[in-house]
Amino acid sequence: MRASVLRASALLALSLALPLAGCSGRNTTPALPAPSATPDAALIAQGKDIFRFNTFGDEQFWTNTLHLNTVIQNGVSPQTALSVGLKVDSDALPASVVSGIQNGSIDLTNPATTVALIKLNAVVGVMGQVDANNNLTSIGISCALCHSTVDNSFAKGIGHRLDGFPNRDLNPGAIIALSPALSAAQKFVYNSWGPGRYDPRYNFDGISGPVLIPPAYGLAGVNLATYTGDGTIEYWNDYVAVTQMHGQGTFDEPRLNIHVTNGTQELVQPALPALAAYEHSLTKPSPPPNLDGAAVARGQVVFQADCSVCHSGATFSDANSKLHLPSETGMDPVYANRSATKMYRTTPLRGLAENAPYFHDGSAATLDDVVNHYNTVLKLSLTAQQHADLVEYLKSL
Ligand code: HEC
Ligand code: HEC
Repeated sequence: MRASVLRASALLALSLALPLAGCSGRNTTPALPAPSATPDAALIAQGKDIFRFNTFGDEQFWTNTLHLNTVIQNGVSPQTALSVGLKVDSDALPASVVSGIQNGSIDLTNPATTVALIKLNAVVGVMGQVDANNNLTSIGISCALCHSTVDNSFAKGIGHRLDGFPNRDLNPGAIIALSPALSAAQKFVYNSWGPGRYDPRYNFDGISGPVLIPPAYGLAGVNLATYTGDGTIEYWNDYVAVTQMHGQGTFDEPRLNIHVTNGTQELVQPALPALAAYEHSLTKPSPPPNLDGAAVARGQVVFQADCSVCHSGATFSDANSKLHLPSETGMDPVYANRSATKMYRTTPLRGLAENAPYFHDGSAATLDDVVNHYNTVLKLSLTAQQHADLVEYLKSL
């Protein structure tokens, strides 16, 4: 009894704190760049805002079609949200909310708290509108949902944003499967994908074969985006914003006979230059500090001999945008065959130490497995020493 009174008053305090925070929770238009900034920096700043907060008007899908606003309002507590991998941006929380979470007076098992956090713009990649009666009237998603995480500095799942880091805890399929608009058979498919994976082609070809959410950092100088190198980064951002997020705009891909128009406005195209500028500004994380320098140097020699024919240059991708048949590297051909190119791009190597598992389908759990895979497929006959050195070198990238 007493506990619930406490919770109710804490929730009241939380909702009172909201107007003070000055967040409307409906930041779907990019902020204008600061006038003093240089043009490039201004474009990047605009892109950052788009990456984090722009839904491109996709609320029509997540609200009107999937009804996820109602699902959240009626049953998704912060605890549940964190358990499906959603992240909370601690920098968006006013001091009163921070202390409320710390002293337990804000109830993390109450869906109303989730609504309050969404109103604060604190749930990474989830954008909602909340009315005067604290009803979540609409919900949409931004790029940050899948391509940002947090540094857990406040608590697990709560901390400062890390843009470009793939959210490998996020279970997009399980979130979509919460929708009452889906059949049991559809829910079964979405629930089968698992954390860190998403299938951006399932809604077109009906084949379920999710791929790992890749990092969106370390892409400057990479000519072709995606595992299958279907097009430029702008091409792919357009694809995802229109056909997966269901943002408003038109996307045509004749190679796959995809022609989609959502809504009556084109909200995606104008955002693409700034979005790409921001993505290209995201550098890969530094390697772990405790590597064995001598082993790294020896591993580099092995890499030069056996790997750099494909993983070349500063990005460790194919400098000349050459794509590869699945059989060249012993990859499962299914995903390539569903793509526009039917081939795999040489994945740029970036932040490998913290990005397990590896390959588009996550078929290599560790860097050891990666090296074992190549040792077999490319018939390298590596010694145990060369194998260990190569793994150490890969961690340094
Ligand atoms: C539901 C999760 C999800 C959302 C939302 C999402 N992506 Fe992705 N993204 C993925 C997956 C999965 C892939 C891998 C697809 C592939 O390579 O075939 C991907 C691939 C990419 C790549 C290619 C990376 C590389 O190595 O070439 C970039 C860049 C990217 N996304 C940026 C964005 C941007 C910008 C947005 C917002 C417009 C966005 N994504 C929205 C899941 C998502
Ligand atoms: C014939 C070209 C080619 C050669 C040679 C090659 N790779 Fe690759 N590499 C690729 C392609 C293509 C992919 C993407 C495969 C996929 O995702 O299914 C890839 C993916 C990877 C990945 C996964 C990265 C990630 O983030 O998922 C690693 C790690 C890697 N290669 C390391 C190596 C090492 C180490 C060698 C040498 C032993 C090597 N590669 C040799 C073409 C090559």
